Amino acid sequence: MSKFTHHIFVCGKCKPPKHLRDGKHDPGKLRAALKKEIKQLGLKADVRANDSGCLDQCDDGQVIVIYPQAIWYGGVTEADVDRIIHETILGGKILEDLVISSERLRCGKKAKASDSASSESSPSS
Ligand code: FES
Repeated sequence: MSKFTHHIFVCGKCKPPKHLRDGKHDPGKLRAALKKEIKQLGLKADVRANDSGCLDQCDDGQVIVIYPQAIWYGGVTEADVDRIIHETILGGKILEDLVISSERLRCGKKAKASDSASSESSPSS
């Protein structure tokens, strides 16, 4: 039985952030771009990208999470695919401009308007 080294979940329900409300944002295209890059690099046996439902990080733009590393990225666009695959998946580097900090992660908690301003800590991942 094979085991993926990285399993990327792309929220298929994310509403475009304000700066992308031009009708061009499409989670399906992001997932397709990830899958294309994975295939081109011959990583299909080890890396998988799937659509998911809401990941409970709805204020962070287009969200993806990579398991088992539990790397959460927000505000992701198709322009980030190359860096995600080459730097994070292959290089193990966290992309600081995309990462959703542990302080922002809701981890199943119901979001409140005050959450983003809260200094309350969340469980680290
Ligand atoms: S709709 Fe995408 S994280 Fe909630």
